Amino acid sequence: MVINALDEVLFWQDIAVIHEVIQDLTAKYHPHDPQSYFAEKKQFLQKTIPTKADFLRRLEHYAENGTPTWISGRTDYCDDLGMNALKKAIHFSTPENGEQKSAKAESVLARDPAFWTQYANEILSKDKNTVLEMTIGAGLGTTAILRQMRPADMYFGVDIDFRCAKNADALARHYQVNGLGITASLWNLPFDDNTFSTICSNQGLEECREIPTILAESVRVLQPGGKLVLHCLKTSHWVRYFTDYGFSDAEIYDWLCRLRVYAGIEQIDAILLTQSMNPITRKEDAAKGYIAVYEKI
Ligand SMILES: C[S@@+](CC[C@H](N)C(=O)[O-])C[C@H]1O[C@@H](n2cnc3c(N)ncnc32)[C@H](O)[C@@H]1O
Repeated sequence: MVINALDEVLFWQDIAVIHEVIQDLTAKYHPHDPQSYFAEKKQFLQKTIPTKADFLRRLEHYAENGTPTWISGRTDYCDDLGMNALKKAIHFSTPENGEQKSAKAESVLARDPAFWTQYANEILSKDKNTVLEMTIGAGLGTTAILRQMRPADMYFGVDIDFRCAKNADALARHYQVNGLGITASLWNLPFDDNTFSTICSNQGLEECREIPTILAESVRVLQPGGKLVLHCLKTSHWVRYFTDYGFSDAEIYDWLCRLRVYAGIEQIDAILLTQSMNPITRKEDAAKGYIAVYEKI
């Protein structure tokens, strides 16, 4: 069960409603029938938020009142780890999971080796790197980094979802490198100022709320002269929510910024400009988006 960032925005006032719907759809359709899952979810959204005016009311409410705090747990493995969830999650840090996750990730990375080598080279550019990865997820970006790490390097990954943090542990075991996954929120990183030489994320900010807070936190824990390396998609995952209600492209960009969710690389540039961060290099790929690199002054 995953409550996505835009659902949290839309149901900020009554999160129990979306929680129940997602739990129900997950039980019925996940993972064997994603089509029915999304079709039924769309029907629910159209019934609950019938008009653009209703949709706008919800957006305005979040823009004014939303905060970078956990409100429900995006999944059962976030802020409320019952014994059942713990028991189910235990295999995530095993070597078997490391082997499976790495095999799956390596097959994806092999489709464009040059892109992923460049991503990892940007992250591991110093003689000795202390890396913080934001948003581990299933571990695609984690694999790209860990497989290129040298003995002097250290990797730390943060994810709000406990299972994802354990994926990083399993992958670090598999590649026999110094690596640790930590369950925490990017809104309040449990690290001292100026701790890491590199901070990175692979297509992770696209799924987060409160982007300005996350960027401010990452700059805080990055050393002066350290690099922020972001692989970001060109468009937001949430555009289709808006197009369903007839928003124009300009309106969508404006709303995504006001809601403090990912709107595009221009939004990231604008925020980082206010945070003592210099853009240093950028690679653009038609399908995969950007590898954007910034340096802390
Ligand atoms: C699409 S995944 C990232 C993909 C991943 N980097 C990869 O390469 O496979 C997004 C992740 O962001 C995490 N996430 C969302 N909001 C977060 C927050 N506030 N703090 C930490 N992690 C968060 C989710 O739990 C999810 O695992």
